[in-house]
Amino acid sequence: MNNTHYLGCLAILLAACSDAEPVPALDEEALRAQGAELAAQFVGTLLPTLQQAIQAGGPVNGIEVCAVQAPAIAQTLSEQSGWQVKRVSLKTRNGALATPDAWETSVLHTFDQRQMADEPAAQINHADVVAGEFRYMQAQPAGPLCLTCHGTDIAADVSEALTRHYPDDMATGYLAGQIRGAISLRSPTEPR
Ligand code: HEC
Repeated sequence: MNNTHYLGCLAILLAACSDAEPVPALDEEALRAQGAELAAQFVGTLLPTLQQAIQAGGPVNGIEVCAVQAPAIAQTLSEQSGWQVKRVSLKTRNGALATPDAWETSVLHTFDQRQMADEPAAQINHADVVAGEFRYMQAQPAGPLCLTCHGTDIAADVSEALTRHYPDDMATGYLAGQIRGAISLRSPTEPR
């Protein structure tokens, strides 16, 4: 069964339950696996879209696509899974969508510390029950591709397009390997 199918089934199950009775509790390990799966799906959908857009029309085109596709992918995944799916950062580009709350802010600081202590970025994630709600965050490191639009040496046309779309952009100046932000998820299911 592929991932989309799996999440589709999950969405149907959750929808079917929500009418009749409360969503059944799951253990934290199961919720964590679901969170990891969703985060992987977000990246696995956005990254090829971004790469294609850059290949087809250069980084400026990538910006246009990212501005539309990233929030759309988050919304589709949210609708399919029932989880709340978003991206957050300590230095936001899209402050309206990606400003972290207090819990996310503190987790993002620990992610920076873990990255500086040489933990492999792909493994940096954190799950917790916050006010009765299961939450999960997966770090997003800045790889070489990311630096085109988030790095220290951004081409003039890219920089101009970023300023036009995001006058309050704070998301530049990153070095390869640093944590750019995180995918942040909230489960609709109460942990057991
Ligand atoms: C072609 C330019 C471009 C590239 C390359 C790029 N980004 Fe972005 N990034 C953007 C734009 C534009 C946004 C704002 C999207 C929006 O409006 O939601 C953004 C937003 C984000 C956000 C959401 C938080 C925020 O600050 O708004 C994260 C996290 C992020 N990018 C990580 C990455 C990572 C990791 C990579 C490399 C895999 C990457 N980006 C590559 C242009 C780019």
